[in-house]
Amino acid sequence: MFGNIYKEKKVLITGNTGFKGSWLSVWLIELGADVYGISNSIPSVPAMFDVLTLSKKVKHHNIDIREAKPLRDCIHQIRPDFIFHLAAQPIVANSYADPHGTISTNALGTVNVMDAARTLTNKCNLVMITSDKCYENVEWLYGYREIDRLGGKDIYSASKAAAEIFIYSYYHSFIKHLPNLRMASVRAGNVIGGGDWAEKRLVPDCIRSWTNGDPVIIRNPASTRPWQHVLEPLSGYLVTGQHLAESDKMNGEAFNFGPSADQIFSVKEVLDAIKKHWNLSSTKDWVTVESGTFHEAGLLKLSCEKANTYLKWLPVLNFSETMTFTASWYWEYYNGNTDMQEFTKKQILEYISGATLKGLSWVV
Ligand SMILES: NC(=O)c1ccc[n+]([C@@H]2O[C@H](COP(=O)([O-])OP(=O)(O)OC[C@H]3O[C@@H](n4cnc5c(N)ncnc54)[C@H](O)[C@@H]3O)[C@@H](O)[C@H]2O)c1
Repeated sequence: MFGNIYKEKKVLITGNTGFKGSWLSVWLIELGADVYGISNSIPSVPAMFDVLTLSKKVKHHNIDIREAKPLRDCIHQIRPDFIFHLAAQPIVANSYADPHGTISTNALGTVNVMDAARTLTNKCNLVMITSDKCYENVEWLYGYREIDRLGGKDIYSASKAAAEIFIYSYYHSFIKHLPNLRMASVRAGNVIGGGDWAEKRLVPDCIRSWTNGDPVIIRNPASTRPWQHVLEPLSGYLVTGQHLAESDKMNGEAFNFGPSADQIFSVKEVLDAIKKHWNLSSTKDWVTVESGTFHEAGLLKLSCEKANTYLKWLPVLNFSETMTFTASWYWEYYNGNTDMQEFTKKQILEYISGATLKGLSWVV
């Protein structure tokens, strides 16, 4: 898989204790990588990182990416073959409460990672994770392309747009002149999947409420989003890393990874789908509506033609499969499955089977 490129390689994940970082750690361990992590906290209780006892399998370093020197020392000591940069303050609502912290982590933390990487002397491929929210949302119906304008009214979006601008300028100022480094930025939207317990995200909020027997409070049931399972962007990030390592031509590119256009469903449809799998008979109903107080952008779709053309990447799961994967993970956890590591690996294998059936080239 992924041309065996990750086998016995040192792979550093910033944000390894988070939702995406934990899934990526499990997948990379399965691919035979030697996985290192940098994070400054475990972002939730419970957390997938703890549930899967990943501290035993990942060489974890507790570092704040806003602290340039300890970050650089650590990266130089590891000398990674790959860096997947995921560490961020990822919640839009929290960016209003802590604008400075969001900007310093998401934009300047990204600068610190690139600054540390550019003085590495070994070969290293950098996959810089930002967000679909880096695009200026002009509320149009078309999918946003990698060349569309960056920007954001809210602080989180602005911090991700700023990160993208710094990635672009670091590439042109430094990285492209360094024969040992290659870099790409990758942009995905809302992801769901088992093991996310972040505050102020729809599915974790549901699961938290329902396991307490409470109705979940949602802001806007009619609002539509392009939902995708966490494994979809992760397969995109991994295939990007593979192309950076294997192809002489690919460097300094940006790629979108989103669901296909027919995967856009409302919050209500997501709740209905999860509820069906969650077997909610003994709990209270879910809808109580609270109006939002901060600016929340409308639908933003990504055009993934570039990833499809250059990386042969396509999404694997349809909406119903995405919901089944997600709900069943939480169901197993809350119903006493003591080996969630095994269950997570099983879902990764199922996802790979789906990709194989679709003939996606990264499975080889
Ligand atoms: N989850 C989504 O729906 C989604 C959508 C688009 C983009 N993203 C992006 O993907 C990445 C991962 O998101 P996630 O959902 O796994 O988030 P998460 O909150 O679960 O994890 C964030 C990780 O970053 C680390 N971190 C935060 N601030 C740090 C700091 N100052 N120094 C060091 N580590 C720090 C945390 O410890 C944690 O490991 C982020 O860049 C996020 O913006 C996520």
